[in-house]
Amino acid sequence: MEQQLQADFFKTYGRENTETYFTPGRVNLIGEHIDYNGGLVMPAAITLGTWVLLAPNADNKVRFSSINFPETATFDLTEELSKTGKEWFNYPLGVFHEMIADGKKPGGLDMLFFGNVPIGSGLSSSASIEVATAYALNEHFDLGYTRLELVQLAQRVENKFIGVNCGIMDQFAVAFGQRDKAILLNCDTLKHKMVDCNIGEHVLAIINTNKPRELAESKYNERVAECQQAVEALQQEITIHNLCELNAEKFALHSHLIKDEVILKRATHVVKENDRVHQAARALNDGDLNTFGKLMYASHESLRELYEVSGAELDAIVAFCSTYPGVTGARMTGAGFGGCAIALLQKGQEDDFTEKLTAAYTSEIGYKPDVYISEIGEGSHQLAAVDA
Ligand code: GLA
Repeated sequence: MEQQLQADFFKTYGRENTETYFTPGRVNLIGEHIDYNGGLVMPAAITLGTWVLLAPNADNKVRFSSINFPETATFDLTEELSKTGKEWFNYPLGVFHEMIADGKKPGGLDMLFFGNVPIGSGLSSSASIEVATAYALNEHFDLGYTRLELVQLAQRVENKFIGVNCGIMDQFAVAFGQRDKAILLNCDTLKHKMVDCNIGEHVLAIINTNKPRELAESKYNERVAECQQAVEALQQEITIHNLCELNAEKFALHSHLIKDEVILKRATHVVKENDRVHQAARALNDGDLNTFGKLMYASHESLRELYEVSGAELDAIVAFCSTYPGVTGARMTGAGFGGCAIALLQKGQEDDFTEKLTAAYTSEIGYKPDVYISEIGEGSHQLAAVDA
């Protein structure tokens, strides 16, 4: 892979790249729509991700090219950098923008990107390219950001430059992931613990609905605003900053303050999902995968019924999983509205599962899903140069 990318860089820019960096995508095992409510989440990095190759130039310009998209762009770093429509290069451009706003001085660079995280699939292709760029610039120019500061910067890019009010989970997961570990992250304090992803005789299957995602960004922002409304209603009686400060018991004492039925459903999901992550962490630690699997199904049901971010495609996958004997638990992962589901699948069943799920899904939905057997990989890192 790296050798091919180096050759592509040479073809694009007529000289060799000086460095190559990699940042993965992620899955979230449980704790969905929790990060921007200040609760506990449990993501893990995957081995699909974004490669960034670069070489400095002397003209104070940044050039963006991608193996995935035909559009290229050149920006002059002495001019104001602003978003250009929906082009892919807004993500790395946003990183330059934020770094310059921080008073840093990244110089001219020729950059080539390649990603194999399916785009818009709920596996954080956008956090992957944001953190990939931020990590690469920080290393190359020695800008002095810590890994956590890079994560926070990448989140600001998504919030302010791209315009999606996402939480911090994705950027954190792709930067901090470690092989075979899940990250137990408290999104309020940003304290985290790496936990062994003790899945024993199971593999983690990722199933992409392949549903084109429409309106996902505006619906996502709508959910964020609904949770804020729930917090404001609760603040009439109690001092809280975010929903995850309440466990289910405390929430029950005050939920009468939320008069709007839809807002009540959203808040109920958040509080109970946060409790489920605590239970899931205990179950994973004890190697109790049956309990973990049940919590995954409960999470999915809540996302479908209360948070209303699932859909026919994700539901078809999870319903199939619940009848397939080799699956211990399954749920949608990421923001929803299409994207991917994950399943804990007994080892040895991969081919049979893929074949039967593909047949069932295709006959119900009308097109095929993609099934990947996922490995849990490393967060952002630099790759050693490969001899041509
Ligand atoms: C998207 C966002 C995350 C998180 C998830 C839902 O992936 O980027 O911040 O909110 O949705 O859990």
